[in-house]
Amino acid sequence: MAKQLLAREVILRDERSSCKRSVMFSGSNHCLEIPKAYIRPPAERPKLNEVASLDNISVLDLAHLNGPNRPLLIDRIRSACRQDGFFQVINHGVSEEVINRLLEVAKEFFTMPIEKREKFYSEDPSSVIRLSTSFNVEKEEVYNWREFLRHHCYPLEKYVDTWPLDPPAYREAVGKYCTEVRALALRLLAAISESLGLEPDFLEKALGQQAQHMAINYYPRCPNPELTFGLPAHSDPNALTILLQGDVSGLQVFKNGQWCTVHPARNAFVVNIGDQLQVLSNGIYKSAIHRALVNAAEARISVPTFYCPSPDALIAPVPSLVTSDNPAQYRKFTYEEYYQMFWSKNLEGNTCLNFFTVDSTNVSPPTEDDNL
Ligand code: OGA
Ligand code: NI
Repeated sequence: MAKQLLAREVILRDERSSCKRSVMFSGSNHCLEIPKAYIRPPAERPKLNEVASLDNISVLDLAHLNGPNRPLLIDRIRSACRQDGFFQVINHGVSEEVINRLLEVAKEFFTMPIEKREKFYSEDPSSVIRLSTSFNVEKEEVYNWREFLRHHCYPLEKYVDTWPLDPPAYREAVGKYCTEVRALALRLLAAISESLGLEPDFLEKALGQQAQHMAINYYPRCPNPELTFGLPAHSDPNALTILLQGDVSGLQVFKNGQWCTVHPARNAFVVNIGDQLQVLSNGIYKSAIHRALVNAAEARISVPTFYCPSPDALIAPVPSLVTSDNPAQYRKFTYEEYYQMFWSKNLEGNTCLNFFTVDSTNVSPPTEDDNL
């Protein structure tokens, strides 16, 4: 069976001579031994015995956004964003039916024969839709145990025609999901603005004509989960991420010096602050470092929605959050500049925020074989 996977690896390499090391998984394949290309050096492995056993990620009830307890909820959002940059939400307004339909088509997409989806394969991060694997096949030394489809979602009418026609329910199910998640993102942005002492629409305006991207991550079963990652430690380069975990756990967040598992909670989303909100809040809010593990028992699907500034939005610490106690930590840049830097790097560096601090103007631009 391992042979099946490796055979597919070779075929794709031949078909696309320009892409040196593409490895795609076929949903029906299951290999018995992990190929070398995925094995991390011992120091970089997940070290599963060091993961905290307690799951103490805040679960916030968004029903309170519309009631007398709103100020209390805003306080809890502030604490979660300051301490962890990570929380879960329930009563978020996205219907269970829409979520279930989305998970169904996501699973169908990744379990149909690879021939039906490989036409979306691309290694160009600026592509409006792309199927890929690992994280950054051009840059990285070791692959990740992941295949993903990533595409733009907003404005819906602009992008829906680029989405898969197979499975046939994809466009409708994903379209509904994106629309409902966008409404949630805007409510969260308003609450986060308020929690920073800003007008509710401040962050929405600061992000310009915001974009919304979505990924479906598919992590196949893996015979040796302690040797590899689905996704190694990183922070998200966008403003805010709203992640749907299916019912298989694998997500971990770095909290108080330890990795903590974020167990999937029924009808909950995981929300995390991305790099752009860390900059806008002048470092008061944390863009959380997180990672995804794989497991031997079953494949895992997760669906992050990335809420992003428009490429030309100017990102800088909000003036009212720059004080003598907390001077400006970041310089001004466009999101486009940031995003290019992010993709020109290897994810192993966790984050590229350090290239945008006030004293980083002399950092030279990335070169071909640069590593963070
Ligand atoms: C991501 C991510 C986590 C997960 O796609 O950026 O962090 O649980 N995913 O899949
Ligand atoms: Ni992430």
